Amino acid sequence: MSRQLINEYRAEFDRLRQISGSRREGVLSEPFKDLLKRWSRSQDLQFVAQHHILTPQKTNIYVDGALLHTLRVPFGYWEAKDADDDLDTEIAAKFRKGYPKDNIIFSDDHTAVLWQDGREVMRVPMDEAEPLERLLILFFGHERQEIADFKRAVKRFAADLPAILEALRDRIAEKHAASSRFAAAIADFHAHAKDAINPSVSEDDVREMLIQHILTEDIFAKVFDNPEFHEHNNVAKELKKVEDALFDRGEKAQLLRALAPYYAGIASTAALIQSHSEKQGFLKGLYENFYKVYNPAAADRLGVVYTPGEIVRFMIRSADWLCEQHFGKNLIDPGVEILDPATGTGTFIVELLEYFRGYPDKLRHKYKEELHANEVAILPYYVANLNIEATYQAISGQFAEFENLCFVDTLDNVDALGIHSGHQFDLLGALSDENIERIKRQNRRKISVIIGNPPYNANQQNENDNNKNRAYAHIDRRIKNTYIRASTAQKTKLYDMYARFFRWASDRVGDEGIIAFVTNRSFVDARTFDGFREIAGSEFSRAYVIDLGGDYRRRGGPGGGGNVFGIGTGVAISFWIKQRAKSVEPMLLDYHHTEAAAQEDKLSWLARTDIQSIPFRTARSTREPWIGEPEIDFDDTMLPLADPKMKTSDARGGDRAIFRLYSLGVVSARDEWVWDRERASLEAKVEHHIAVYGTWLRALNSGTKIDLEKDVYGRGEIKWSRLQRTALERHEEITFDAVAIRRGFYRPFNRQWFY
Ligand SMILES: C[S@@+](CC[C@H](N)C(=O)[O-])C[C@H]1O[C@@H](n2cnc3c(N)ncnc32)[C@H](O)[C@@H]1O
Repeated sequence: MSRQLINEYRAEFDRLRQISGSRREGVLSEPFKDLLKRWSRSQDLQFVAQHHILTPQKTNIYVDGALLHTLRVPFGYWEAKDADDDLDTEIAAKFRKGYPKDNIIFSDDHTAVLWQDGREVMRVPMDEAEPLERLLILFFGHERQEIADFKRAVKRFAADLPAILEALRDRIAEKHAASSRFAAAIADFHAHAKDAINPSVSEDDVREMLIQHILTEDIFAKVFDNPEFHEHNNVAKELKKVEDALFDRGEKAQLLRALAPYYAGIASTAALIQSHSEKQGFLKGLYENFYKVYNPAAADRLGVVYTPGEIVRFMIRSADWLCEQHFGKNLIDPGVEILDPATGTGTFIVELLEYFRGYPDKLRHKYKEELHANEVAILPYYVANLNIEATYQAISGQFAEFENLCFVDTLDNVDALGIHSGHQFDLLGALSDENIERIKRQNRRKISVIIGNPPYNANQQNENDNNKNRAYAHIDRRIKNTYIRASTAQKTKLYDMYARFFRWASDRVGDEGIIAFVTNRSFVDARTFDGFREIAGSEFSRAYVIDLGGDYRRRGGPGGGGNVFGIGTGVAISFWIKQRAKSVEPMLLDYHHTEAAAQEDKLSWLARTDIQSIPFRTARSTREPWIGEPEIDFDDTMLPLADPKMKTSDARGGDRAIFRLYSLGVVSARDEWVWDRERASLEAKVEHHIAVYGTWLRALNSGTKIDLEKDVYGRGEIKWSRLQRTALERHEEITFDAVAIRRGFYRPFNRQWFY
């Protein structure tokens, strides 16, 4: 595999040299970059071009390539130079600037030099496959001890966690029965959660929140070196009280003892990461990893996956431009209030802060008053809180609590929906709880921009997966009265989480504003979304859709190619403009789909592209699919091969199918023994089968005492069906008969031999 990659690299290098004749870094280094990328992929490393590093001297540098572990921990680096530069002078200059020396390749068109652990370990010509391969094997084989330990700890964590969860759950149950103080603490928190999240939150949910809190509090404190986090955050403070009532002295450490190597690994790995943004990346990776071990079904249901920075930054730049185009204001301007309704680890808010970096005064006001975020699950809520506050501190030099983060179920929080101009807000209540106060404060605000990555069950292909999302009375009713009412599809799957978030956001922006979402792309062409397209076309004045494809069922064209999230459901970024004076015509739709390229190429396209430069196709929107062939809805549009209903009805009943006749076909109950592609191997199998049968028949005939169940059928030598057991018990002979070999259709389109 590695040699093949190198050969491909050489071929591409020669081709480029011939075409371009160029000796400039950037043209001829591309094939080597591709080689590194592809090799990285086979090692589960991620290649990031122009990777930012904060050096020990606190300067910013950008390395041509960095290879990162899934948790964003750096593995190695690559820096390309012009063939005309003197490579050694360049290397010395880079190290003076603070380039890392632990695992880095410097290359120009002729030579590759590998430095590891502070010294040069190999230098090879670029055009000799074997030495180059050795250098790359050394490079990819290098691993820091801390990282190796950490990776082991992450694996062990997955193995150890179930037992620890059980112990914690038991402890909580015992304590609940034994201690009225603990029971009261749980009940208090439960009352809070019912108000904030939704009335159906159960005590069990609260216990799970407590467990997540207990298991992760050390992690958060360590990555950002912020031991007081749990004293600052209002929800954490409440959960801490419950935790204090749970454990007796020393008991917590005792219960979590098996996780100590994991925590230690996190601490030592976090210490290796210099830059603030890399720490965030690490924390996000840890969180995602933790959740998927802790509760994979919930991870899927909630959409626990963070949004790649390229997507987030593209969406922010675009929303800013669109806001200016359509409303004459920029995101930073006072009065433009921005909400991320499903904030996860807080990526959108963090990147907004970075985006506003150049305006310190306005930034202070934005942060305090006009940036809002919601999250319903306790862990991402903590991570978001830490990330956002740490970013603000890094930018402004001051710590300030982020008071606009709400621990809330966005879809249940419907008090501020459907508010149009002139509305009087009267949502003040008497509850004093800080989180509830925050929610009410948010509800009193006029939100102009809603931006984010709402959840969808990426892995749930089918209703039977039994990972159903709960019902949301208000939003579901709104969907029914709008998208579903306007739909002609027989089956409506519009209670999908992302459709709910669209409905919620469309109502929340009132009569003016922008929605910017990255979601499932099915609204573009799925038949069941015709009502959505119709209604959106009447509610909004304009939409811009960038269809990123990535649907695993399609290959080329719109919808195809790699997936920006690495999931199977196609993805689109869309911007929706709502204007007070909307004409009666359907909205203008600007649609563009990316090439069916690989995941990293789509992401790098987003990183390089501004929405202004996208060659959109503009048209009035319609209820029909916005592009190409509609997603095929087999149930609604295709004639079935066979339909069980045909067994009992006739064509006049309206049921149609290609075949009317039903049959199980040949039932052998031992397919692997009596079917084969090759006649000879079928004969051999059957003869063996009969021989084994014969051995036992002879043993029985000789009067040997045999326990048939245990000694014969239970041995699994051959498949003993009922027919054969009966034959043996009746002492029947079975002989091989070549005439019994026939041609047959195996399941059902496969012509094989059958005995
Ligand atoms: C795809 S993630 C968001 C990723 C985020 N942009 C990031 O980079 O971390 C979706 C998030 O929405 C949260 N979520 C799901 N349903 C929600 C709801 N009804 N209200 C609020 N948040 C919700 C999930 O817990 C999850 O963290």
